Amino acid sequence: MREINQYTLTEAVKSSFRTEEGSRFKFLLENFIDHLHDFTREANLTHEEWMGILNFLYDCGKISTPERHEFILLSDVLGFSALVDMINTRGGATEGSNLGPFYLDDAPQMRLGADMSGGREGATVLVHGQVRDTLGNPLPGAIVDTWQADSAGTYPIQEQERGQDKYDLRAKFVADEKGRYFYTTVLPKPYTVPYDGPVGRLLRAGNRHAWRAAHLHYIVRAAGMRAITTEVFFENTEYLDNDAVFGVRKSLIAKIEPVRKSDVFEYDLEKRPDAKFAFDFVLAPEG
Ligand code: BEZ
Ligand code: FE
Repeated sequence: MREINQYTLTEAVKSSFRTEEGSRFKFLLENFIDHLHDFTREANLTHEEWMGILNFLYDCGKISTPERHEFILLSDVLGFSALVDMINTRGGATEGSNLGPFYLDDAPQMRLGADMSGGREGATVLVHGQVRDTLGNPLPGAIVDTWQADSAGTYPIQEQERGQDKYDLRAKFVADEKGRYFYTTVLPKPYTVPYDGPVGRLLRAGNRHAWRAAHLHYIVRAAGMRAITTEVFFENTEYLDNDAVFGVRKSLIAKIEPVRKSDVFEYDLEKRPDAKFAFDFVLAPEG
């Protein structure tokens, strides 16, 4: 009979799995067991605390539906999602940030210069920039897939029961021969992540708020390049330093400037904007 105690247990659990030598699965599983056991020993975890954690995870499962993934939200508020985004950002490429729960992969394609606001209230802003590779070459034909909240901080997809169309405030634009993209939209407002479930309880227990800094979401793709999922934020707006999901990076903050009467645009725009900002996306090669 082998001697099993709180120190030899970790090796016993790891070696109970017959995983392929050198495989990524073996590495992830064994590392996870190591860290879980180290945490448990370091914390001197009581039975009540252990059950508290398991019941919390059970509650996350219970409230989850195809539309609401409480574990992703948990990952977001713990900075786990942000860490994965940071680790996977390629040198020289635009920094990654949260995908969030409201992405639809079949957003309508709009022509460059279109107004995406659908006549919604709010300041009209021109969003423009270039998509290029890490060597500075433009990427004509790149797809700029964007979605956002309105000027009240709500995504139309959340308001379908009130007659809103889930495809509103989202579009795909195809960059022109110079890799440029340009469109107008309304400026979004900050909003809260869902806090009526276990993750909300966790936030309250830690005296944290649920607000996200106002942002626009993007997935930018181009042939042969690694797609980026990111967000663009705005200088001098609320929650930049305490975004509930740690999505803000300095390099993702754009400066909005007012449009003057005398401003002439090089673009063919459907609607004249009140304000404008530029943001370039940089993609690294695939692989
Ligand atoms: C969002 O940015 O859309 C989002 C991110 C995390 C949780 C909820 C919403
Ligand atoms: Fe969002």
